[in-house]
Amino acid sequence: MIFYKAGKNIFDQQRVVGKPQRRVDGPLKVTGTATYAYEQQPTQKLVYGYIVGAEIASGQITGIDERKAKHSEGVIDIITYQNVPEVGTGAFLSAKALGGPHIQHYHQAVAIVVASSFEQARAAASSLVIHYKREAGQYSLQSRAASAPLSKSGSFRPDPVSSVGNFVSAFQQAAVKVDEVYTTPDQSHAMMEPHATVAYWEKDMLHCWTGVQQLNWGVRDLAFALGVPKEKIRMRAPFIGGSFGVKGTVMSDTVLAALAARKTGLAVKVTLQRPLVANNTAHRPATIQHVQLGANRDGKLTAIGHRSVSGNIPGGRPEAAVLSTRYLYHADNRATELKLAELNLPEGSAMRAPGEAPGQMALEIAMDELAEKLKIDPVELRIINDTRFSPEHPNKTFSQRNLARCLERGAEAFGWHHRSPTPGQQKAGRWLKGMGVSSAIRGAPVLPSAARLTLQSDGRLNVKTDMTDIGTGTYTILAQTAADMFGLTPADIDVQLGDSAFPESPGSGGQWGAASSTAGVYAACVALQEKLAEKVGASLHDLSFSDGLLIVNGTSVSLQNLASQGEISADAKMEYSEGRKEFEHQTFGAHFVEVEVNEITFEVRVKRMLAVCDAGRIINPKAAENQVLGGMVMGLGAALMEELVVDERLGFFVNHDLAGYEIPVHADIPQQSVIFIDDVDEFAGPLKAKGVGELGLTGVAPAIANAIYNATGIRVRDYPLTLDKLM
Ligand code: MOS
Repeated sequence: MIFYKAGKNIFDQQRVVGKPQRRVDGPLKVTGTATYAYEQQPTQKLVYGYIVGAEIASGQITGIDERKAKHSEGVIDIITYQNVPEVGTGAFLSAKALGGPHIQHYHQAVAIVVASSFEQARAAASSLVIHYKREAGQYSLQSRAASAPLSKSGSFRPDPVSSVGNFVSAFQQAAVKVDEVYTTPDQSHAMMEPHATVAYWEKDMLHCWTGVQQLNWGVRDLAFALGVPKEKIRMRAPFIGGSFGVKGTVMSDTVLAALAARKTGLAVKVTLQRPLVANNTAHRPATIQHVQLGANRDGKLTAIGHRSVSGNIPGGRPEAAVLSTRYLYHADNRATELKLAELNLPEGSAMRAPGEAPGQMALEIAMDELAEKLKIDPVELRIINDTRFSPEHPNKTFSQRNLARCLERGAEAFGWHHRSPTPGQQKAGRWLKGMGVSSAIRGAPVLPSAARLTLQSDGRLNVKTDMTDIGTGTYTILAQTAADMFGLTPADIDVQLGDSAFPESPGSGGQWGAASSTAGVYAACVALQEKLAEKVGASLHDLSFSDGLLIVNGTSVSLQNLASQGEISADAKMEYSEGRKEFEHQTFGAHFVEVEVNEITFEVRVKRMLAVCDAGRIINPKAAENQVLGGMVMGLGAALMEELVVDERLGFFVNHDLAGYEIPVHADIPQQSVIFIDDVDEFAGPLKAKGVGELGLTGVAPAIANAIYNATGIRVRDYPLTLDKLM
């Protein structure tokens, strides 16, 4: 067990960590040799599973007629709730992976048809007859919102209520007020790789490959669903083709592949066909948010009120939309509240910057409205209300907080002074031009993380941890970390990830991955160096490492020599980094956007986007920039396009494929740039670094909404800002 104390360290030299690096896994990705879950080929006989989704949103299965499907060519087995033990729910999700007889939501898995080929499984599935009794369900957030109770607190469920001072009287007395309701829609993760699993059993041991961000959650939840001990599951996810939160843990593809493999004694390969993803898995729940801001004439906020209601299936979690409002600006009086309506839609769960992204979509329009009423520049208003102390825990400061610097730096780089404070003033031909700004904030915890470092007999270093790379660049930053610790280059390091047999990390999620997993690798490097010190009979602080050599008292020995009698391996876990409990850990940013709106058709064209990010040391500026650019694209989608449309009579998401669920394409994406604030976070673990993947999204959509207002004078508070809302 290793604790990390803040202070000067090897990473401050910025030899490898801190420099732009190409992805070490890049060649595998571009040559198609990186093996994703569906591409795994176990040596066992391999068959295919096809998942059937429920045709009703709420009700009961009254009968299953398998006769025709059973005799379909190539069919091996048909698995339903009637012929396997009851499936449990995981700790993270409340919907069961296999429904029946009770149906919790539309497209809940009700059967898996196993056949010799994918096509045979699909053909047989189409002749499986399931009879249902439809029951009335609740599908409209709007109609359930008024009577929704406060959400409950618990794991990944923030306190439903938080308050300081006396919000009600302060708001009443405020000189200038904003009091508006904002809505955000249900959204789909729309990642490239759909959920997929290959599973087989070796006696009572389950082996599976599946794209899961947090293998520890995946194993825990799969063990619970199947009723087997965690030790009897080996889960692997060497490559994951995007996720954005929807592969945080296992979904129906994994549970049903495991069940089918157990029942047939074969290896089973399953993917969720794209039209099943939206309603079978999880989504970001819609919100209705009431924001009330009160301020003095000088722009100082005196009262912040933010209430959000979202929906979920019974037992589900709220979309924590008020979370960032508890940390972003200071006001002596603040009240925030989370309510949760029970709906019978598919389960809502984490999607990139859960809670925080939709919350800022409301709060940061409200700030723009306040700035206008006060006749204060919106950049200036945000700086006026910046705070050094945590609004939520006033005796705490932030481990790093450069919000004002982000806003100032961005305003200068973007040419903010060209913006007209009065909307609808700037035009080029038939295009109305406008600029908008938003602050950005996203939590960045550092969690315990373990790794194994091995000095191989060929002198190369090998890193193993169950951490994942969901396209974020984890392979590369872990290679950078070990390279700096041993005076090597990333090319000298082999990184192996995504195997539950490796030491446990917290996985990729919550923007904790980069800081936590590099801390775990750092700890394992120290543990290995201690072993090497012992081997050469010196103490750790007399050693240094350079160019593949261990140097002690002026003499050097090559790493290869040290391992000539056999590899040397060390496991370690970073339990605690100094400052984790003493400070608030957040990342900050500012987004600037320029739009053009056609004055006749109201078509919106985003012309320029700039993100300024404050996220500690940027371990790999190249990969980090990629992350932020991707977040900005997603924010553009959230502002202008993305919406799962609810059929409120039948209870499902209508546009459940990539043709109907609109996301930005190349033609929608303008010139984008990213600036990283040159600073480190002394209390974010040994690399003094934090994640940026989710920060890149928060604040983007409201900056676009504010730019559209600046261009047109039309204030839309209902996302997405489609052109019908501007007419
Ligand atoms: Mo992210 S939704 O915290 O994986």
